[in-house]
Amino acid sequence: MRKVGVAILGLGVVGGGTARILINRKQAIKEEYGVDIDITAVLDRIPERVTNLGLDLNILASSIDEITQNPNVDIVVECMGGTEPARTFLVKSLEAGKSIVTSNKEMFAKFWPELEAAAQKTGAGLYYEATTGGGMPIIRTMTTAMQANNILEIKAIINGTTNYILTRMTEENADYSEVLKDAQALGYAEANPVADVEGYDSSYKLSILSSLAFNKRLPVDLIYREGITKITAEDIAIGKELGYIVKLLAIAKQKNGKIEARVHPVFLPKSHPLASVSNSFNAVFVVGDAVGDIMIYGRGAGDLPTGSAIVSDIVYCARQVEHARYSEMFNNMTEEELIKDFESEYYVRLTVHDVPGVLADVTTVLKNNKISVSQIRQNKNSEIVPIIFVTQKTHENAMNKAIEEISKLQNIIKVENVIRVEQ
Ligand code: HSE
Repeated sequence: MRKVGVAILGLGVVGGGTARILINRKQAIKEEYGVDIDITAVLDRIPERVTNLGLDLNILASSIDEITQNPNVDIVVECMGGTEPARTFLVKSLEAGKSIVTSNKEMFAKFWPELEAAAQKTGAGLYYEATTGGGMPIIRTMTTAMQANNILEIKAIINGTTNYILTRMTEENADYSEVLKDAQALGYAEANPVADVEGYDSSYKLSILSSLAFNKRLPVDLIYREGITKITAEDIAIGKELGYIVKLLAIAKQKNGKIEARVHPVFLPKSHPLASVSNSFNAVFVVGDAVGDIMIYGRGAGDLPTGSAIVSDIVYCARQVEHARYSEMFNNMTEEELIKDFESEYYVRLTVHDVPGVLADVTTVLKNNKISVSQIRQNKNSEIVPIIFVTQKTHENAMNKAIEEISKLQNIIKVENVIRVEQ
């Protein structure tokens, strides 16, 4: 039977979960998949993390070089997070001919070509199921189960922190800052929540998914990105009345050979399959021209869910005769291949002085920008009133121009919010 040695870099939450699964499932994996996997090295600053797992302290390495030179290590599993030193350690490992498995979405999204080049030189494998959607097997679905399809569209909830915050805001009619504080106290949000709440984390994952879907690497900085910090309890309540649920979506679409890729909050109709994905759960909705709609749902983070994806990569890697290569990923998509002036419907909330003609002024701006309205409402309860309208499908540039013009109208107090509506 094939013996496989695994080195784990970082025995924190994810590394620890991975180690526990490898230890507990060792016999089952041997019987079911014909590979005998042992943890033969660990890199971590805390020796107790090794002994607490019942592992021998002599597998604790003092440097990455000790691991890359260890003949008993076949696969290096990186669970450290952060771009450095993770990137350097993985390049060194690949150059030494060790296959790698990583859960590090930011590092992978930014340095995939460099890792791929290092892997190509030595023939080592490069596996990253856990970078996107934690325990959901979305990467292997894209790489090994969608060959028959031209992928037309991806819509995904791939950040558990923001989904948790938006779910609680919706259920409790609470404001963003209040729920964020509570989410931080409960450990659902980081002390520094920027990567999650400003949509960076989702954009790393969308970069990886889009690159696989459209066979060309989509650099993170070409993805339009907007976070959830401007969403208010009021917008959520009005959205509910209109039949919408707010979600932070990562969206990529292929249209006439061009790609649009964006991360931003959206109003989704309550009947959309993604609208019922609540709390910290993730889901990816993919449309292929042959298969039609598919959706994968599951836990996007956590020790055992992420460990599940990592162990799946380890077993998959251990059983490969030759590792798949994605050399097309070296070609980055260019700005010319991207649709920036994408189409959407828009929800807009204004506060205005309740004077004759204010509504006519707003609709004149919309008419001048060729924007058609599908719903409009105004609730009178004082001299300062809200106007809420939802547009039909229009272009982003036209909408931005209209909003700019509306904000300058005499009786407009404020454009309170603009939220895109996805059908
Ligand atoms: N910060 C991520 C999330 C964790 O909230 O989904 C997994 O990448």
